[in-house]
Amino acid sequence: MITATLEAGSALTHLQCTACGREHDAERLQNLCPDCGKVLFARYDLERAARTLTREAVATRPRGMWRWRELLPVREARNVVSLGEGDTPLMAVPRLGARARLKRLLLKDEGTNPTGSFKARGISAAVSRALELGARDVALPTAGNAGGALAAYAARAGLGAHVYMPVDAPELNRKEAAVYGAEVVLVRGLINDCGAWVRRRAGEEGWYDLSTFKEPYRAEGKKTMGLELVEQLGWEVPDVIVYPTGGGTGLVGIWKALEELEQLGWIDSRRPRMIAVQTEGCAPIVRAFQQGLDHAPAVQGARTSISGLRVPAAVADFLMLALIRRSGGTAVTVTDEEALAGMREIASTEGVFPAPEGGAVWAGIKALVASGAIGRDDRVVLMNTGTGLKYGELVSVELPVVERL
Ligand SMILES: Cc1ncc(COP(=O)(O)O)c(C=O)c1O
Repeated sequence: MITATLEAGSALTHLQCTACGREHDAERLQNLCPDCGKVLFARYDLERAARTLTREAVATRPRGMWRWRELLPVREARNVVSLGEGDTPLMAVPRLGARARLKRLLLKDEGTNPTGSFKARGISAAVSRALELGARDVALPTAGNAGGALAAYAARAGLGAHVYMPVDAPELNRKEAAVYGAEVVLVRGLINDCGAWVRRRAGEEGWYDLSTFKEPYRAEGKKTMGLELVEQLGWEVPDVIVYPTGGGTGLVGIWKALEELEQLGWIDSRRPRMIAVQTEGCAPIVRAFQQGLDHAPAVQGARTSISGLRVPAAVADFLMLALIRRSGGTAVTVTDEEALAGMREIASTEGVFPAPEGGAVWAGIKALVASGAIGRDDRVVLMNTGTGLKYGELVSVELPVVERL
């Protein structure tokens, strides 16, 4: 199916450093900028892309994120490693919205992706490109969901996968990565400690390091959330996008999508207010935003049970802070309890069992409506980044038991 539809091809031209602006070769495996050590972005020939990427083509191609192939980095159709990621539902959630007296609340449900989270998008793009450029083994540090996704996509690609996650990552994240056949190592520490292990072992073994933003293509897969969102809204942007922020690939990817859509002439210069939600126990981006900083100092002693948000230091901190400010957005914290209550509220009002990170977003939205930062008429998108089904240990229910009649 994908072979038949990929002849249009990627319009990728080169990589460009987001800090020093220097250009780098996209035809070999790269990590951070070789000159200044910052994040590299994929750049495309958008004029060329527009020859085959039309709104009509996007509407009629088979569903999934590879519909946007001109804006994705893979050259040869045979290298696309897909499990059916993307094209997740964007649904009106009026019962939930009514709880905050919001008239136009929408939920984008990334929990319907393969492996149950938005991580599938980034990993599909990154594993495909790593395969195309000759990697044999791939590795990453993860809060949990990216490890499951990497293990699944590497299995499908026939690559070796090496996953380092905190020893207290959700049980199902640990198990799924192992079941997909990855080497899974549990680290007594946080995701940055896992990152140090990956750096060391990748250097020793020659594995390709797919750490968030140390590799240019995961953000490209995440970008497709933004492309889809705008298409689903009839080529309009919403007023507000609220996103649970850890490493920030989603936030940065969606913003990049909007910039590329504007360059293609498909949207104008209006932007949604981009809002980051973190938890009280680990909020480097919120604190840096509040203090007017361009970079976020690492959080010491990060503590939160919302595993995807337990990221004490993010490589793309400066990109997140810049885009939140440019968009007129903001950044807020919620408590773990509010996030977990939010999870139940979404599930019981709308029938979507969200990841705790989605629950955190809902708690954040309620606080922002209360403070006036979100208006009741705003069209607001709640990004639910994953399914709640993997988080049994965070959900406790008391159920009556009766004897047999
Ligand atoms: C369900 C979920 N939501 C959100 C995040 C944070 O995402 P990002 O790194 O894009 O900020 C993660 C990361 O592990 C996650 O698993």
